[in-house]
Amino acid sequence: MNMDQLKRQAAARALEEVRDGMQLGLGTGSTAKHFVELLGERVRAGLNVIGVPTSEATRLDAERCGVPLTTLDEIDHLDMTVDGADEIDPEFNLIKGGGGALLREKIVAAASDRMIVIADDSKWVPMLGRFPLPIEVIPFGLGATRRAIEKAFAACSVSGQMAVRKAKGDDKDGHVFVTDGGHWIVDAQLEKIADPPHLATALSAIPGVVEHGLFIGLASSAVLAGGEGIRVIE
Ligand code: 5RP
Repeated sequence: MNMDQLKRQAAARALEEVRDGMQLGLGTGSTAKHFVELLGERVRAGLNVIGVPTSEATRLDAERCGVPLTTLDEIDHLDMTVDGADEIDPEFNLIKGGGGALLREKIVAAASDRMIVIADDSKWVPMLGRFPLPIEVIPFGLGATRRAIEKAFAACSVSGQMAVRKAKGDDKDGHVFVTDGGHWIVDAQLEKIADPPHLATALSAIPGVVEHGLFIGLASSAVLAGGEGIRVIE
């Protein structure tokens, strides 16, 4: 089974948790896209749910699949969010933002009673950090923000190279990647993050940092698909 089939399997298992009438957060990325597609099939068969998308890409996917959408201005909470992740540790701390949607993903996850992470099992790691940590920043004053981030790294005993994310695609080569919120992303290659909550708090205190990809205390379960089958970890 290839990686994409594993992602679809994880999405299908998470779909079993969906009940009629639920208000759902819809994640972003290739695994979450499978969930939206499978959810769309159920909606077309009569399931009554409503979703809040975590990116413009997911909004378009959900519309294409016939999943009814709303916003966090129109409803006051979500029953469950299903989203992918770039890394998951045994405490359910996550690195997210590989797809650049971390800000809306975190707002939606924080508004949810429950967050299920769906992934292929390569994302399950003993310690976060090998995947570059995305940090969403305001372009204004980026030099000062970078220096403040470096100080936060030092205070948390981590270090590594930072690079402003570039957009991908023939027409975009060389351009800076711009998030749905109009911000930039700095990716930090840290290798090991021994204390993710400490680093999360330090980064959140920096004025030019809009949000970072450390999700602490938000996810409560993970559905991991691997060669040996599906594992649900709670
Ligand atoms: C997007 C994300 C994604 O959930 C994360 O990058 C995982 O993506 P994929 O399912 O494609 O591996 O955080 O901002």
